[in-house]
Amino acid sequence: MNPLRDPQDRRLPRIPEPCALVIFGVTGDLARKKLLPGIYDLANRGLLPPGFVVVGFARRDWSDGDFESLAHDSAKEHARTPWREEVWARLAGNIRFVGGSFDDDAAFDQLSACLDGLRQSHGIHGNAAFYFSIPPSSFPQVLKQLARTGMADNERCGGWRRVVVEKPFGYDLPSAKALNDLVDDVFTRDDVFRIDHYLGKETVQNIMALRFANNLFEPLWNSKYVDSVQITMAEDVGIGSRAGFYDDTGAARDVVQNHLLQLLALVTMEEPTSFDAAEIRAEKLKVLRAISLPADVSAGTVRGQYLKGWVAGQRAVGYLEEPNVPADSTTETYVAMRLGIQNRRWAGVPFYLRAGKRLPRRVTEVAVMFKTAPHLPFNRTDVEMLSHNQLVIRVQPDEGVVLKFGAKVPGTTMEVRDIAMDFQYGEAFTEASPEAYERLVLDVLIGDRTLFPDAAEVEQSWRVIDPLEEAWQGTQPEPYRAGEWGPRAADEMLAREGRSWRRA
Ligand code: BG6
Repeated sequence: MNPLRDPQDRRLPRIPEPCALVIFGVTGDLARKKLLPGIYDLANRGLLPPGFVVVGFARRDWSDGDFESLAHDSAKEHARTPWREEVWARLAGNIRFVGGSFDDDAAFDQLSACLDGLRQSHGIHGNAAFYFSIPPSSFPQVLKQLARTGMADNERCGGWRRVVVEKPFGYDLPSAKALNDLVDDVFTRDDVFRIDHYLGKETVQNIMALRFANNLFEPLWNSKYVDSVQITMAEDVGIGSRAGFYDDTGAARDVVQNHLLQLLALVTMEEPTSFDAAEIRAEKLKVLRAISLPADVSAGTVRGQYLKGWVAGQRAVGYLEEPNVPADSTTETYVAMRLGIQNRRWAGVPFYLRAGKRLPRRVTEVAVMFKTAPHLPFNRTDVEMLSHNQLVIRVQPDEGVVLKFGAKVPGTTMEVRDIAMDFQYGEAFTEASPEAYERLVLDVLIGDRTLFPDAAEVEQSWRVIDPLEEAWQGTQPEPYRAGEWGPRAADEMLAREGRSWRRA
């Protein structure tokens, strides 16, 4: 069959129908640094239809032109692809602004009228997505306004209406459930897109390609050959100006509940029957349900908080000295934990997760550590430099995959040493990877839910985190110096089991 006529051929560029993207919280960091630049990048790649309109909503007394100039400057500063003024000029004519606060009925009536008007002027057929780039505390109010004005009603609008919700999706299981119920009351289930931006990263999607497109790894992907798995998300940055959010949240809620558990699910799930969103979500949910917590939380987890120190040659203040952090805060900026997965494939394999701020450098990776050979027919000294074989999925930076195994050192003796076979995205492909948000915004507009966790996954992930949070109540985090790889207790946790953290 001619591939250009095959509707199943996913290599064809996917272009959304004419539609509007309404961004609430358009003056915030996320909109300026990720969403608006991402929209420009999509336009630059020719992936947006001519009838695509961005509508900004914020508490500002702005004209369309004022918003257009903010969007222009943000996109120009943060775009991934080369800047072309003529691409922007085409988008610029399709930018609208509605000013008002979330309790302002008149502003929402105006937004509704604006979308109705775009039906005629831009042929959007009532299609619109609402992006909540706002604090969760404002969700109920905005949802209520969307319901009141009928803006979430597909039938009334004669097109699709979708909602995009940023993490954190709840604070614990009860709040996540309440939020899910609230959103479900206003939008139909299939129209809710929950963003976990890690799923938009090419390297994260590549985990599925690596596992399910190849025959090489599957036979080894189980407790018979895998000794342990380490998932690391290290950041060199501190909390910046986000104390208000971060101090109530901590590392476990901020990144383990979502990003790290999603990585864990992709690495350990069974093969989906197809690449259909529902099939992938079903497999992820199954494995999230099989996660087991350490029997003794104090021995199987470590919480840390950074003290002042040096990171990459720069002096860094301690967490408690960061602006707006209470002097007696016990919030963790580092967390490590040992999880298990109770199923036939993984029983007995420890999964070590760690995430922290103010660590020596930014690196996210998944390292699958294989068991050593059951027998080594060498002298002990020949293999002294040989460690576990490892498959390391480098999520960022230096995106790629590294396979570490032993090889003979050239010479007259039989000496075996670890070497690395290195696949790097930057070298293997000429096409640069899109930004996570670029990909995810496009998927929302197309209506492809594959890369968005559903309510059940989010709730299940809270079932993993909530008992840990409860056990940590009233405990003090372990100190670590900014620029170190977390508290000593995290090294001791692995050492007790005869292992050590990989030097990421
Ligand atoms: C966010 C967290 O979800 O992910 C931040 O709230 C964190 O605390 C960020 O810094 C890291 O994202 P990335 O894509 O830079 O790894």
